[in-house]
Amino acid sequence: MIESWVEYAVINKALSDLVNDVESIGEVKSALKHIISAGGKRTRPVITLLSGKLCGGSWEDVLNIALAVELIHTASLAHDDVIDKGVMRRNVETLHVKYDTAVAILVGDWLISKSIELVSSYGEEVISDFARIGMLMAEGEILDVYSIKTPDFDEKEYFKCIESKTASLFAFSAESACKIVSGDRKDVERMYEYGNNLGIAYQLVDDLLEYLEILEDKKSEFESRTLPMIYEEKYGFEEAVAKTLEHIRKHTERSRNALSSFEDCESKEKLLIMVEYMTTFLLRNYVGRNKEVLRLLESI
Ligand code: IPE
Ligand code: MG
Repeated sequence: MIESWVEYAVINKALSDLVNDVESIGEVKSALKHIISAGGKRTRPVITLLSGKLCGGSWEDVLNIALAVELIHTASLAHDDVIDKGVMRRNVETLHVKYDTAVAILVGDWLISKSIELVSSYGEEVISDFARIGMLMAEGEILDVYSIKTPDFDEKEYFKCIESKTASLFAFSAESACKIVSGDRKDVERMYEYGNNLGIAYQLVDDLLEYLEILEDKKSEFESRTLPMIYEEKYGFEEAVAKTLEHIRKHTERSRNALSSFEDCESKEKLLIMVEYMTTFLLRNYVGRNKEVLRLLESI
């Protein structure tokens, strides 16, 4: 699917150039190569390139933003894997397992710093947005880490947590591209809505898959308290899945609707496919032969 898109190839080429050309010490170079060449879906930077184009610009206009969002995301994964004692990520060993905790933390710091360098040419508003997103991601991760020990971690806290740790960066990926190439306030808002709702829907999908224990490319020791778990306590398994799917449906719809006033073009079409790819496609793909869940999936 998106792996065959030209935007995906552009991002991967730019990332591998960045890794190959980097001037740094051996440990950083080696760990960067390991974590970047493991791949990943590259959804955030692809959204940035597509959003830049949709709002009237070109990929070149927003390429450094695209790289920055992928790098800060990669840093957050490196740190998350230390926190959660994750042993596998993107089908390869996590940094702290392959190297050690010091390397995982410090390469994460390096990546955040690199991402700041990349956004620094875009002007004050985008830089301060990016800084705020970094803070939100950290806050969301703290809420996530303590979710299991927080007795009143309910639906409201859960949504606050995922909006901060995940959706904020998706919102920035789409919104900042629009700010850079057009600055039309209404369009900026629309792109924010697109990214924020997509990010929420995606984290719900990820949590639902983890709840159903069918994510194989990620393994870790620590778990968070997620929406299906909160619902299961109140309503039982089937209702928990159905209610979570209903939230996914609602947010994917909001994400798609946010683009409705843009004229039809290839970038818009791809942004709409991205919504499907990150939600219904992933769900159907992973849920496989689980008849009970497949039947519930028909409702979204
Ligand atoms: C993983 O993000 C963390 C979540 C927000 C669920 P991705 O699923 O985008 O990870 P990669 O980049 O494709 O590995
Ligand atoms: Mg975690």
